[in-house]
Amino acid sequence: MQARDYDLWYETPQGRWIGAREAALITAALAPRPGESLLDIGCGTGYFTRALAARVRGPVTGVDLNPDWIRYARGRDPVPGRYAVADAQALPFADGAFDLVVSVTALGFIPDQRAALAELLRVGRRRFALGLLNRHSLLWWQQGRRGGGGGYAGAHWHTRSEVRALLRDLPVSELRLQSAIQFPGGGRFARWIEASPAGALPTGAFLLATGNIVRTGSTEQ
Ligand SMILES: C[S@@+](CC[C@H](N)C(=O)[O-])C[C@H]1O[C@@H](n2cnc3c(N)ncnc32)[C@H](O)[C@@H]1O
Repeated sequence: MQARDYDLWYETPQGRWIGAREAALITAALAPRPGESLLDIGCGTGYFTRALAARVRGPVTGVDLNPDWIRYARGRDPVPGRYAVADAQALPFADGAFDLVVSVTALGFIPDQRAALAELLRVGRRRFALGLLNRHSLLWWQQGRRGGGGGYAGAHWHTRSEVRALLRDLPVSELRLQSAIQFPGGGRFARWIEASPAGALPTGAFLLATGNIVRTGSTEQ
């Protein structure tokens, strides 16, 4: 898929709504402190990198394996040094290099998910947010069950128990799983449901895992 086509979806009414809702959930879960640094792994065209850069008050970096998408991200957001090509399974950063680490709908495209998670937690220092496609959702029924097309092609859709198993024995505390985007169409009914108590049901298309990163020898959180 072309970077431009993917990124322009975030400018449709549906994409704008979904992107803003997910970015707001991620920001609330990270609770960034002034000056904290953030890494977005599998940033793609940089939609969430840009959205989070507008919400945190520290340096923001995005990495992705796809050089074409990184080139596009740089074109949209020409902050020097913000974007780099890197493999999530072997990140070119020191331990604890970033206060906050985020990855949005990228893990399900990465062959060695455990390696990518270990790397995410290795380079992080305080909090992480992991956005995933929820296997137990209407969107999976619509897009995922036959393999998916467009931006969903080849994706692995996660269940909550899979996420817990993937993070087992990794340095994480206070793991929280939540979901959002019950009706991905984004129309008036979808928005009404999302704002109602039903919006918190575990069946949203967006599965968000967040928690503290436990650094050996550190008591600070
Ligand atoms: C569905 S896109 C998500 C992009 C962006 N996070 C977003 O939510 O708009 C999945 C991204 O994961 C990236 N990706 C897949 N395998 C990767 C790897 N091993 N390391 C880094 N990025 C990877 C792809 O290149 C793609 O940009």
